[in-house]
Amino acid sequence: MYDNAVAQKIVDQYNQKPLTDFASVNTRTPLGTLNLNWRESDLPERQRTKHVHRLHPYLGKFIPQLVEIFLRKYKPSLVYDPFAGSGTTLVEANALGINSVGTDISAFNVLLSQVKTAEYDISLLEKEVYDILRRMEAYSKRNSDSKVIELFPGDVDLDVEELKTRKEYLGKWFAPKAQKDLLYYLHLIKDYTYQDLFKIILSRSARSARLVTHFDLDFPKEPQTEPYFCRKHSRTCEPVDEAYKFLSRYTLDTFERIKVFSKIRTEAKVTVIHGDSREVKLPKGIDMIFTSPPYIGLIDYHDQHKYAYELLGLQNNETREIGPAKNGQSAAAKKDYVKGINDVLIHARDFMTKNGKALIVVNDKYGLYNPADVGFKEVGRVERHVNRRTGRREGAFYESILIWQKV
Ligand SMILES: C[S@@+](CC[C@H](N)C(=O)[O-])C[C@H]1O[C@@H](n2cnc3c(N)ncnc32)[C@H](O)[C@@H]1O
Repeated sequence: MYDNAVAQKIVDQYNQKPLTDFASVNTRTPLGTLNLNWRESDLPERQRTKHVHRLHPYLGKFIPQLVEIFLRKYKPSLVYDPFAGSGTTLVEANALGINSVGTDISAFNVLLSQVKTAEYDISLLEKEVYDILRRMEAYSKRNSDSKVIELFPGDVDLDVEELKTRKEYLGKWFAPKAQKDLLYYLHLIKDYTYQDLFKIILSRSARSARLVTHFDLDFPKEPQTEPYFCRKHSRTCEPVDEAYKFLSRYTLDTFERIKVFSKIRTEAKVTVIHGDSREVKLPKGIDMIFTSPPYIGLIDYHDQHKYAYELLGLQNNETREIGPAKNGQSAAAKKDYVKGINDVLIHARDFMTKNGKALIVVNDKYGLYNPADVGFKEVGRVERHVNRRTGRREGAFYESILIWQKV
């Protein structure tokens, strides 16, 4: 739904310097002056993935600076993200001292948001991090030669019955040593205070240690068990045969990222709810929604973290996802999608203050979002040309920030 004039305006803006002084945005900043058409050099990856924003890969998140800008512009007291995903809104709200609530249907996403926004005793966390690293190193030295897939008698007391249910997936997608490394780390987690954080490290390591090609980490269909010609590196690459190196690297990296965020973390309250945002119980007094709904028919949110569901034994609610890839983009899928999104907004509206705002980040090419259907009116709209997004997209890709007000 972009006419030529809008596209031309975006292209013109794209040739000018976009906004990078985010702290300069305040309630008086006119919407029309917001040039959000960042190139890679304006907003490099390391800034978009600063501190806890890179605790774990996640397809389809928005960049934290986009959230920051609109939180500074509208200064809410309580912001709600009904599709909280990896927790970008919640992290940014907390850093600005704003209370926030987020809902997500995916148990893994909820775990990730909680781990990012939790308060940590850094010296206790440091002790735990070095302790688990030491135990993993001792384990790795002892077992580097062993080719046998077995747990260590007297050493590991994993629930073997439960393990069997996950074995098929583990056996198929991980090399024997990688399976053992991951299971040993899983076994150690129960000895620590910050178990959820170690679960996120385990999941991130599992993702890297799968038997997949370097060029298809996002949507692998079959395990890659033999050396292969790698399109990413233009040479023959070997499938990963262990997880230990990822476990140690990500344990340290996660600790560093948590430390950095703990320096800017505020006392603002963060509430993460695991549930369907069409029906969850919310607090009253929400004066702003900031969210990006699932894109219709593009991503299966549970499926993208299948390894985490299998390893951590998380509850699967995938039938409640709105607009999953597996439903496609047919007319019937669009109708279901619109109903799902509308139900979420109608439900959230009941918990909002008079004149509360809803900011919805969408790719609106099918015109699926209509404020009048859900008790809002449009009071603004900012378009931007997205040049860098993770996932399947290629070429020019536009994104709109719809700005609605409750009526
Ligand atoms: C585009 S993503 C949001 C990403 C988020 N903005 C971020 O930066 O990480 C959409 C999210 O909606 C969630 N979702 C889908 N259907 C849902 C439902 N019925 N209730 C709550 N969340 C749902 C998905 O699990 C996914 O995490």
